[in-house]
Amino acid sequence: MRRSCRHPRGGLVAALLALALAPLPAAAFYFPGVAPTTYHAGDTVPLFVNHLTPADSQNDPKLRSVFSFDYYTEQFHFCKEAGGPKMEKESLGSIIFGDRIQSSPFQLKMAQNETCKAVCGEQTFSDRDAHFVNDMIIKGYNINWLVDGLPAAQRMRDPNTDEIFYSPGFSLGNVNPETEKPEFNNHYDIIIDYHEVSNGQMRVVGVVVDAYSLGPEPRAIGGQECGSSESPVVLDEKDENSKTALTFTYSIFWVPSPTPFATRWDKYLHVYDPRIHWFSLINSAVIVVFLIGMVSTILVRTLRKDIARYNRLDQLALEDFGESGGVDDGVQEDSGWKLVHGDVFRPPKNPLLLSVMVGNGAQLFMMAGVTIAFALLGFLSPSNRGSLSTVIIVFYVLFGFVGGYVSARVYKFFHGESWKLNFFYTPIILPALVFGVFFLLNLFVWGRGASGAVPFTTMLVLVIIWFVISVPLSFAGSWIAFKQSVIEAPVRTNQIPRQIPPAGGYLRPLPSMALAGVLPFGAIFVELYFIMNSIWFSKVYYMFGFLFICFGLMIMTCAAVTVLMIYFLLCAENYHWQWRSFFTAGASAAYVFASALLYWAKDVSFSSWTSGVLYLGYSALLSLLFFILTGTIGFFASWLFTLKIYKSIKVD
Ligand SMILES: *[C@@H]1O[C@H](CO)[C@@H](O)[C@H](O)[C@H]1NC(C)=O
Repeated sequence: MRRSCRHPRGGLVAALLALALAPLPAAAFYFPGVAPTTYHAGDTVPLFVNHLTPADSQNDPKLRSVFSFDYYTEQFHFCKEAGGPKMEKESLGSIIFGDRIQSSPFQLKMAQNETCKAVCGEQTFSDRDAHFVNDMIIKGYNINWLVDGLPAAQRMRDPNTDEIFYSPGFSLGNVNPETEKPEFNNHYDIIIDYHEVSNGQMRVVGVVVDAYSLGPEPRAIGGQECGSSESPVVLDEKDENSKTALTFTYSIFWVPSPTPFATRWDKYLHVYDPRIHWFSLINSAVIVVFLIGMVSTILVRTLRKDIARYNRLDQLALEDFGESGGVDDGVQEDSGWKLVHGDVFRPPKNPLLLSVMVGNGAQLFMMAGVTIAFALLGFLSPSNRGSLSTVIIVFYVLFGFVGGYVSARVYKFFHGESWKLNFFYTPIILPALVFGVFFLLNLFVWGRGASGAVPFTTMLVLVIIWFVISVPLSFAGSWIAFKQSVIEAPVRTNQIPRQIPPAGGYLRPLPSMALAGVLPFGAIFVELYFIMNSIWFSKVYYMFGFLFICFGLMIMTCAAVTVLMIYFLLCAENYHWQWRSFFTAGASAAYVFASALLYWAKDVSFSSWTSGVLYLGYSALLSLLFFILTGTIGFFASWLFTLKIYKSIKVD
C-alpha cells in the first residue's frame, strides 16, 4: 500500500554515526581595531578598573562561581582616588553583561617607568574581610583593568605551539600549592607595550600585569620600596581579633614594541590549535552535505515518482470514466501522502499559540542572522566593549516588526479568529517570560550582594524600550499582515477529519524528536562550547566567521531533517505536521540544555547553590530561545514543503 514512501533508516543511522565522530573546536576571524589614541611622553594614560570575574587558571580550569563583584567592594580595600571613583559611560549591553568601569588612582605617564609606588596608605583587613577575600582567591577570581581600551592581561603559553599570548584579567591571589594558604596579591607590575609611530607619537599596544604577594617585613619606613616575596601576604581570618595590614604597590614598565596599533588585539584573540577548528568545521559540513544530499535524493526521486503516479492514476481514472462511465476501484487506490490532501491544511490545535511562537522565532532568527553577519563584517570589534550585546538588543527590538508580521500571517493561514489576542500575545508573552526569568535571577544576584546585578534603572530602560519601540513595531507588522490576503492552500480541506492510523517506531513523537533534534545540534555544538566558555568565564568571543558558517549549517540541517520527518509522517497518513515540525526541529534545544548540564558536570564546580540556580536558569532561558528559533525553522521548511508537494498533484 505505502510502498511509495521509502524509509531510509540506514541513512539516518549513518548520519548519526558521522555526527558522533565529529570532534571538537573552531576558527579565527577578527577585526581591525578602532581609531587609535596617540600620546606623547609624559601624558597621562588613564587606567580604568572593571568588575572582578570568576576565571579559570591553568592549575584549576573549573568554574567556581558565576557572580561578579564591583572593584570597589569594601572588603577588598582597593585604593580609591581622592574624591571617590567615577563611573565611566557605558553602553546598555555592556551594563547588562556586567561591566562596571570606574576610574582608579593609578598614575600612568606614557614612557615613564616607576618602581614600587604605594597606591594609597596602609589598609587593615578585619577577619571578616579576610574571610571574604580568601574565599574569592580560592574561587579563582580575576581583577580586570582597562588601559586605553585594552584589558590588562596575564601572559600564557600555548602548550601546543609554545606561543605566548595574552589572556585578559589577572588573578586576585593564588593558593600556595605547598602551604595551601591563599596569598593575596598586593603588588602589581604593570607592563605596557607601546608603539612609537613617529617623532614622539606613541600608542598603547599591549597591557600585561604580573601580580605578586609581597609581605611587609623588609619595608623601609617612608620609602618607595616593595615588600618581599619571601613572606607573601596571607590575610588572617582566625578570630575576631585577627587583623592584617598591607600596602598596595605598583611598578610600571613601558616597553617599546614593534606591534602596530591595528594588530594589537591579535595577541589577545589567541586560538589554540586552529587545525582542530578547521577539521571540525569540515566534519560538520560533510554531515550536512550528506544529509541534504540524502533528503534531496529521497524526496526528489520518490516525490517525482509519487506525483507522476498520482497524476497517471488520475488520468486513467478520467479515461476509465469516459469509457465505462464508472471508476474502477482498483485504479483509484491512492496511497501515502496524497490520501491526506483533504486534511493537511486543516488548522492545527492551538493555532494562536503556534503562530505567536513562530512569529517570535522569526524575530529571533532575523536578530541572530543579522547580528552574526554584522559581527562577521567587523562592526562588533572587541575593542568596542559591549557592542555585541547592545547590537543584539537593538536588532531584537527592531525586528519586532518581523515578529508581528509573521505571527499574523501564519495566524491568518490557520483561519484564526482571535485577532486581538494574536496582536497582543506576539510582542508580550515571550519577552515577558524572558524578562521575568531575567529579573528573578537578578534578584538572586542582588541577594548575594554581588555587583554583577543589573541596576534597577537599566531594567527600567529595557522595559521602556520594549513598550515604546518593540511593541508598536510588532503591532505595525501584525496590522500589515492582517490587511494582506490570506495565503491560499493548494488543496481544499474536507469537512470531516480523516482517521489517523496508529504509527509505530520512530514516527512516534518522542523518538522522532530525539532522532531529528540531534542533527542541528551537531552542526553547532562546537561553537556552543566556545560561547558557553565566553559567557561564564567572561572571555572575548570573536570567532564569528565560524559561527556564521555553523549558523548556516544549522538552518540547513533543521530544514532538511524536519522535511524528511514530515514526509514520513504524511506517508503514514498523519497530517498533524504543524506542531510536529516545530517540535521536531526544536528538539535540538533539549540537546543544548543537556550539553549545558554536561558542561556543568565537566567544567563547573560551584560552592554555593545560588551559582547553580543562576547557571541553570540562564541555560534554560537560552535553551528556550533556541527551541523557538529552531522550531520556527522546522515549521517554515515543512510549510513550504507541504505547499509545494500538494500544489503539484491534481485532486478532484
Ligand atoms: C622601562 O623598563 C623596561 C623594562 O625594564 C625597559 O625595557 C624600558 O626601556 C624602560 N623604559 C624607559 C623609558 O626607561
